[in-house]
Amino acid sequence: MYFLSGSVREKDGKNYISKPISTIWSDIPTNNLQNEGGVSFPSGKKPEMLLERVIAMISNSEKDIVLDSFLGSGTTAAVAAKMRRRFIGIELGEQAETHCAPRLTAVVDGDASGISSSQNWDGGGGFRFYRLGPPVFTEEGSIQPDIGFPVLAAHIWFAETGSPWSKPGKLKPFLGSHDKHGYALLYNGILGDKSASGGNVLTRKTLAAIRSAQEDFTGPMTVYGERTALSETTLKAERIEFKQTPYDVKARK
Ligand SMILES: C[S@@+](CC[C@H](N)C(=O)[O-])C[C@H]1O[C@@H](n2cnc3c(N)ncnc32)[C@H](O)[C@@H]1O
Repeated sequence: MYFLSGSVREKDGKNYISKPISTIWSDIPTNNLQNEGGVSFPSGKKPEMLLERVIAMISNSEKDIVLDSFLGSGTTAAVAAKMRRRFIGIELGEQAETHCAPRLTAVVDGDASGISSSQNWDGGGGFRFYRLGPPVFTEEGSIQPDIGFPVLAAHIWFAETGSPWSKPGKLKPFLGSHDKHGYALLYNGILGDKSASGGNVLTRKTLAAIRSAQEDFTGPMTVYGERTALSETTLKAERIEFKQTPYDVKARK
């Protein structure tokens, strides 16, 4: 049995009006929930039918985005997908990987449980799974002082390319190329030079190290570093755009 209080906004011609919602829903079965979506989530799982009713009350367009910031077993996202809505789910527990991702994969593949028959669902669509890294910036907007190379590299790569960075087995200053443009980062003694700024400054020596790591890539490149010792003429000849950490590290391009 479910109890909800409050009101719901409904469109009446051009205007929205508030209508009270029913307060007790006793017609939604709660047995055999473990069969829905193929995942078990004792005490925390809600029936797909419940979420279907809630989403139908608040959304009447397939363009709508349904957000559940406490995703749990992923019921809201699974139901939103079956109702052809776009969705965003946030979950801090490991059930994001053990429950939500497999459940949504099953939904995309045509999961037949829950509300699938009432929604004529036989699969389709897709989803992206993102893992948040540690915060890059402090509350004042500066880079976290103790941030590691892979975290900053992933952030810079995403800010520049809009795509996730694939961390290599062995870290190197050349991060990779995207759309025929290369990206490199000199930071945190990545070249083994632990002196105050030695490995973090773009010099002939550090550029040679970047070049040796970039394998067959020959295109133009953006290099992030503490400063550059190369002249404008050299940078131009080498087709390098230099960006200074931390000042040029932006939240998004
Ligand atoms: C009862 S479940 C939610 C059920 C889900 N909304 C559904 O439709 O089935 C609550 C979830 O919120 C998660 N959670 C709690 N605090 C959180 C936070 N700050 N950020 C993200 N998830 C959080 C918990 O790990 C738990 O899995």
